[in-house]
Amino acid sequence: MKNHKILTVLGARPQFIKAAAVSRALLRTDLEEIIVHTGQHFDEKMSEVFFREMDIPMPAHRLEIHSLTHGAMTGRMIEGIENILFSEKPSAVMVFGDTNSTLAGALAAVKQHVPVIHVEAGLRSFNMRMPEEVNRVLTDRVSSLLFCPTDAAVQNLKNEGFEHFPIKIVRTGDVMYDAALYYFQKAKHHSTILQKLRLEPGKFALATLHRQENTDNPERLKGIVEGLNQLHKQKPVVVPLHPRTRKTLENQNLTVDFHIIEPVGYFDMLMLLHNCSIVLTDSGGLQKEAFFFKKPCITLREETEWVELVEGGYNTLAGWQPQHILHAFEKSMSNQPDFSKNLYGQGDASEKIASAIQEFLLKD
Ligand code: UD1
Ligand code: UDP
Repeated sequence: MKNHKILTVLGARPQFIKAAAVSRALLRTDLEEIIVHTGQHFDEKMSEVFFREMDIPMPAHRLEIHSLTHGAMTGRMIEGIENILFSEKPSAVMVFGDTNSTLAGALAAVKQHVPVIHVEAGLRSFNMRMPEEVNRVLTDRVSSLLFCPTDAAVQNLKNEGFEHFPIKIVRTGDVMYDAALYYFQKAKHHSTILQKLRLEPGKFALATLHRQENTDNPERLKGIVEGLNQLHKQKPVVVPLHPRTRKTLENQNLTVDFHIIEPVGYFDMLMLLHNCSIVLTDSGGLQKEAFFFKKPCITLREETEWVELVEGGYNTLAGWQPQHILHAFEKSMSNQPDFSKNLYGQGDASEKIASAIQEFLLKD
C-alpha cells in the first residue's frame, strides 16, 4: 500500500520529458503518482510519442484543453484540475517548468490548500512580457517545495525574499540532464532519423523555433527565417517545426530554404543533438541539451534563464536579426569552450526530488 498520493499536472512537450525522469524515480518510492494531462499539447508527435517512447505512466485524467487564449486556457484548466483534486484528494500537486498547465496546476492546488511542488523553480528571464515568466514567478510564489536546477535559480529565489517564506528550496540539478543520460542509451538503438534524413554526422545545424515573442512578431520571424536561410547555404539546417510556427509561416508566406520536418520524438531529437554541429533555438530545454551534447548554441532571443551557459561561452544570445545570427554562427564555430564543467548536476536530480518529496510528506 503506497502511503501518499501525488497528483502530477502536465500538458506540454517539455513537461513530458521532465516528468519521465521524475516518474521513474517515484516508482522506487512509497509514493503513488496520479497524472493529469491538461491536453495543452495534443498532436501525436507533440504528446503521445513521449509517453510511448519514455514509458511515462498513462494519465489517469485528460482534460483536452488546448488552442485557447492564455486566460481561457488557464482558467478552464484550473476548473478541471480543481474537480480532480476534489475526487483524488492528493497529499501534494507536482508541476514542471513554466507553461500555462504549470500555473493552472499550482493555482488550483494552492486554493485547495494542497501543497505545490515545483520542479524547475527559480528560473527567471526578468522579462514579464513572456507568458512563461509570469507563470514561473506566480508558480514559485505559491509553492511549498521548490526544486532548483541551478545555483542561479536558488539565488533568484533568495533575491526575491523566498528565504523568509515557510517553504523549502532544494538545489537538485536538472531533471532534463537525467533524462538525456538515460534515454540516449535507448535512442542509439531505436532512432533511424539520420538515415531517414540522409544526414552526415557533424555536418548539419539543428534549429527549433516556437517562442511566442518570435512567432507572433512578423519582423522577428522574418529576420530569423532569413538568418536560417542564409546559414543553410553554408551548412544544412534541419528544423523539426512546432505546429505553432508552421501555421504562422504558412500565413505569412515566407520563403523557407532550410529543411523543415515534423516535430520529432525524443529519441530522434537526442540523435539529432548528438550528431549536429551546432544548435540554434529559442527553446529553453534545447539550450541545455546542446550543452549536454557538447554543442555550441545560438539562442534566438535577447535573454535566457540559463545564464550559466552564456557566462561559460557555450551559448550566444543572438536575437532575431540575420546578421547577428550569422555573426554568432561564425563566432561559435571557431570558439572551443570547455564542456567538461558540471553545470546541471550528476544525473541524479530526479532521485533527489523523489527523496525530498518523501521526506516532506512524511513529516506532515
Ligand atoms: C507552450 C508553452 C511554452 C513552451 C512550449 C513548448 C505556454 C504559455 N507556453 O507554448 O512555454 O515552450 O509550449 O513546446 O504555456 N498546437 C498544435 N498542436 C499541438 C500543440 C500546439 O497545433 O500539439 C498549436 C495550438 O493549437 C496553438 C499553438 O500551437 O494554436 C500554440 O500552442 P500553446 O500550447 O498555446 O503554446 P506553445 O507555443 O506550444
Ligand atoms: N523536443 C523533441 N522534439 C522536437 C522538439 C523538441 O523531442 O521536435 C524536445 C527537446 O529535445 C526538449 C524539449 O522537447 O527536450 C523542449 O521542448 P520545447 O522546445 O517544446 O519547450 P521549451 O523547453 O522551450 O519550454
